[in-house]
Amino acid sequence: MKALQCIELGGPEKLVVNEIADPIIADDHVIIEVKSASVNFPDVLMIQGLYQFQPPLPFIPGGESAGVITELGKGVEGFNIGDKVFAATGVGGICEKILAHKNNVRHIPDDMDFEIAAALSVTYGTSIYALKQRANLRAGETLLVLGASGGVGLATVQLGKAMGARVIAAASTQEKVDICIENGADEGFIYPSGNLDRDQQKELSNKIKELTGGMGPNVIYDPVGGTYAEPCLRSIAWDGRYLVIGFAAGADQIPKMPLNLTLLKGCQIVGVFWGAWTGMFPEENQKNFEELFEMYKNGKIDPSPSDKFTLDTAADAIAHLKDRKAKGKVVINL
Ligand SMILES: NC(=O)c1ccc[n+]([C@@H]2O[C@H](COP(=O)([O-])OP(=O)(O)OC[C@H]3O[C@@H](n4cnc5c(N)ncnc54)[C@H](OP(=O)(O)O)[C@@H]3O)[C@@H](O)[C@H]2O)c1
Repeated sequence: MKALQCIELGGPEKLVVNEIADPIIADDHVIIEVKSASVNFPDVLMIQGLYQFQPPLPFIPGGESAGVITELGKGVEGFNIGDKVFAATGVGGICEKILAHKNNVRHIPDDMDFEIAAALSVTYGTSIYALKQRANLRAGETLLVLGASGGVGLATVQLGKAMGARVIAAASTQEKVDICIENGADEGFIYPSGNLDRDQQKELSNKIKELTGGMGPNVIYDPVGGTYAEPCLRSIAWDGRYLVIGFAAGADQIPKMPLNLTLLKGCQIVGVFWGAWTGMFPEENQKNFEELFEMYKNGKIDPSPSDKFTLDTAADAIAHLKDRKAKGKVVINL
């Protein structure tokens, strides 16, 4: 089969499409003929050796995919050959056939196509968990989303609206802010790109307070980190929940927060690690997916991908995220 492979660590330009052996079926696993796969920021980090979980070289990037089951291992129940499924495997998705553990595989609802199913798991799975289980977001609360036009960001804008929040989207260009407004954000603003100096940080904090009538957002969703984090926390409301999602601004710039802010604001800094939680609480994760399917059916969320690539151009899909060009979800059709 053909697969995108990372054979040495580095940028997307080092990735190659190779002909490799088909996967062999194993107990408790299925083999899926992949129709669509999607890209997330962890792929950018993993190919550079910067992610918290590093597969041994060579590996196939791509944390999620969708397709048709072609083989069933012993111990697999509830699935048949020919079933349309999607899988969140963390790695190994950008190839023609993937071996996936049964616990990571779900049926695709009848009203959903492969591209959407491939784009749903990581972004919407993370964001519903973050807003529901971690932040207890309530209708009428204000939600600020950083990096709001990216994969998890745009999913959060849509989910925040579906959950009845007032959503403020923050992104680095007007085009990105406009996409967030089209996706339901009540308001949006541009923040500067790169390392913010003290004055820019103060401006960011003031802007957020201004947009929230001086009260600050109840929940802040932060997949960016870097120098954006502290000024955002400084603007949070009393009893606010600051969701630590990721560090797209750079794994070498993980923010360090003054703890007195949590005391002064009676707020919480809440870590979100969806992948680990899904392993510990699979039933709750399944309930979240059922809610997502319902929201999709009722038109409350739209996981349609914004950019599409092929297996031959899959490295460009990863470069797209690395170069801060992604607007919503990026998929690869095989
Ligand atoms: N905690 C979890 O369970 C979990 C699950 C999934 C993903 N994540 C994390 O969430 C983060 C975002 O993932 P994603 O897949 O949504 O990525 P994405 O689509 O590339 O979005 C990331 C956003 O971050 C912003 N950004 C700021 N500085 C950047 C930089 N130097 N390079 C690239 N983007 C930058 C960009 O928006 P602007 O240009 O508008 O600033 C971009 O839209 C990653 O750190 C990922 O590891 C965490």
